[in-house]
Amino acid sequence: MKPAVRIAITGAAGNIGYAAAFRISAGGMLGTDQPIILQLVEIEPALQALKGVEMELLDCAFPLLENVITTSDIETGFKDTDYALLVGSKPRTKGMERSDLLGDNGKIFGPQGRAINNHASRNVKVLVIGNPANTNALIAMNNAPDLSPSQFSSMMRLDHNRALNQLSLKTGSKIADITRLTVWGNHSLTQYPDISHCRIDGQDATSVVDISWYKETFIPNVQNRGAEIISARGASSAASAASAAIDHMRNWIFGTPEDDWTSMGIPSAGDYGITEGLMYSFPVRCKNGSYEVVHDLHMDDFSTEKTKITEKELLEERDAVKALL
Ligand code: NAD
Ligand code: LMR
Repeated sequence: MKPAVRIAITGAAGNIGYAAAFRISAGGMLGTDQPIILQLVEIEPALQALKGVEMELLDCAFPLLENVITTSDIETGFKDTDYALLVGSKPRTKGMERSDLLGDNGKIFGPQGRAINNHASRNVKVLVIGNPANTNALIAMNNAPDLSPSQFSSMMRLDHNRALNQLSLKTGSKIADITRLTVWGNHSLTQYPDISHCRIDGQDATSVVDISWYKETFIPNVQNRGAEIISARGASSAASAASAAIDHMRNWIFGTPEDDWTSMGIPSAGDYGITEGLMYSFPVRCKNGSYEVVHDLHMDDFSTEKTKITEKELLEERDAVKALL
């Protein structure tokens, strides 16, 4: 058996944390040959509930789960961790935008970034899920000067998966046959789900669907899916978010399939004219634990305009949290 790796999950007594912890412990993220130690972090008032999560995890008798650590101390929570899923934060409720959470949630990610900087494995991979995810990830990354910015990412995979689902439903094609889809920018209403390079069973997606459906139905549907879920469930997406987090980490660690890519919020290196340093979602290919932006995609005027709109929103969010960077 391989030596165990450490996975920290913040907000582990919450809805996403609860959904993620069991799938990860069953081998869903790192495979069924990789033992793990879970380091579950919560705020003090939720420690009792977290104890219950720990008891249930142990009652599953997962062969891969070597230990569960529960704590409200972030230095203990991130100690030597190889992977960190930063979920813990408030979700929005009906009528709110995700950026309305910045005031309450933004301040969580500076101290967590510093604790990761000082205590995590030097190779840690960090995924920020708590909203507004891109800007929270920017805050965490800026508070971890001893780590590479490329170790920090924000979750766009739920949007990517939602876009795959919408396209599959419309065209009657299998999810597995849809490749090269991208969701650009921010995990917000301004995100740009882009099918202009996408293929469905080898064919250009834009030749399979009507362009007015793409612009007037598909894009707004994907952009609004989070709010639609809140309206239906009375709570924000949880199992699909946990599943997307696992997909994100799996691709980052083990690679994206040949001839395909995924969407990840990553620090911009200026590709496609996007302001350097912004935590922005790009099409990326992953291999051997690293990612690379997919270069040289042709961007028509529509795409360029859309990528700029979502960049502008991220610049405004960055300005709003200047004091935390
Ligand atoms: P939840 O309220 O069910 O759980 C959040 C948990 O975080 C709670 O148990 C709470 O005690 C804990 N928490 C709060 N502050 C914390 C802190 N400083 N340290 C550790 N834990 C803390 O919420 P949820 O449904 O699990 O959602 C969590 C976050 O994920 C929300 O911000 C939500 O908007 C976001 N989200 C993001 C995506 C995405 O695609 N990026 C998708 C779904 C939800
Ligand atoms: C989502 O997209 O489901 C999450 O970001 C939760 C939300 O607030 O919409």
